Amino acid sequence: MSGHNVWTHKGTFLLAAVGSAVGLGNLWRFPYLIGENGGGAFILVYALTIFAVGIPILIAETMLGRTSRRSPIMGMRHLTRTHRTFRFWESIGWLGAAAAFLILSFYSVIAGWAIHYTWLMFTGSLLEADARTISEGFTALLASPALMTLYHTLFIGCSGIIVGMGIHKGIESGLRIMMPALFGILLVVLVYSVINGDIAAAARFLFTFNVADLSVEGWLQAMGQSFFTLSLGMGAIMAYGAYMTSETSLTRTAIAVAFIDTAVAMVAGLAIFALVFGAGLDINQGPGLMFVTLPLAFADMPMGALIGGIFFILVLGAAISSAISLIEPVAAYLVERFDMTRPQAVAVMVVAAWAMGLLTVISFNIWAEGTIFHALFGRSAFELIELLTNVFMPLGGLMIALFAGWALTQTEVRKELDTSTAWFATWRFLVRFVSPAAVAFVFLRALPGIEG
Ligand code: PHE
Ligand code: NA
Repeated sequence: MSGHNVWTHKGTFLLAAVGSAVGLGNLWRFPYLIGENGGGAFILVYALTIFAVGIPILIAETMLGRTSRRSPIMGMRHLTRTHRTFRFWESIGWLGAAAAFLILSFYSVIAGWAIHYTWLMFTGSLLEADARTISEGFTALLASPALMTLYHTLFIGCSGIIVGMGIHKGIESGLRIMMPALFGILLVVLVYSVINGDIAAAARFLFTFNVADLSVEGWLQAMGQSFFTLSLGMGAIMAYGAYMTSETSLTRTAIAVAFIDTAVAMVAGLAIFALVFGAGLDINQGPGLMFVTLPLAFADMPMGALIGGIFFILVLGAAISSAISLIEPVAAYLVERFDMTRPQAVAVMVVAAWAMGLLTVISFNIWAEGTIFHALFGRSAFELIELLTNVFMPLGGLMIALFAGWALTQTEVRKELDTSTAWFATWRFLVRFVSPAAVAFVFLRALPGIEG
């Protein structure tokens, strides 16, 4: 395809993929999942799946993008035709687009909470507040559809503007400013937590493990988290891969992305737990860990308002750089398929995901417990959407692994990966047997849980 967009530099794909990977998954979800699942044991399972499943599929998904040089939906159509294989595989593109749409819808709402907390921190509203005040504040935020919708709109609007400006002027330039700043902030927060928190207790919690602590549920969550955190199975990585220069090494880049993403999650986990332990608080807070427990820890610490505010800026930046990677695959498709201009295509995706996000907004208030929705589905709309994405992502990942491992012609894949025979053989073995088996195993175990 002539004139297809390509990133400006060899390293831009790494920057973009790290921007996509590092997000709420690292800063918000990973720490509270560890808190709920007994610390080190969870991390062990998580690390294993990153290696055996995450990295091989990350390589495969990037490869599909780069060899097709199209948006995921059009790219999968192209590949199934040129490789003369079943049209069934085209559903990888559609599944990805659907997952991206659903994730963006709730991701934006949760990122919106971080806008609220950035504001509360910098204005010093939470200084010296006690546990009760802070947790009532969070409850009040969740009880207000208007406030949540406002933040949700702001967040998704900003993300849309960046993508609307194009992959060079918008995405690349945005990431080039944002990502170094984010790493700087993360470092500041880490140093702060070492000085003011209990880093030894945090390290003990994260790095000692007792496998008995880990339930089957914990295994499932670890595997789901490894997909979510690497942005796998929903076309984000495939779309970015389509712009990757041909000289960039696929394997090396994928390993770097997984490594950086894991390092950020660990550092964030260490810092957050150090602050929370240092303040003598309870870690088993679920999703409220970042929005209730952490502000409480900051409330009593020197310069807590300032560092707390900076921390929530970090959360916001990381979330925006991930949100843009959810908009890109669908926007690129609309441009390719319907000849829309980029701003039009972005507007379609953003407005649709925004409207869908209202379901998440009202899940916490108007449609909380006790409504017809709960009666029908046994959970809130938000929980249902999250559950769907938890199915779509591994399913997409499984199909990507099978497609890359079994359906594509080996010589083509070999050329694209351009790596030593031993590495190629290892990757191929993982992607053909190990990753599919692992995902299938998790699915089978998860099925009963999905019903109830
Ligand atoms: N990887 C992101 C995170 O950890 C979430 C995400 C998933 C982003 C899928 C894009 C695509 O927060
Ligand atoms: Na992540």
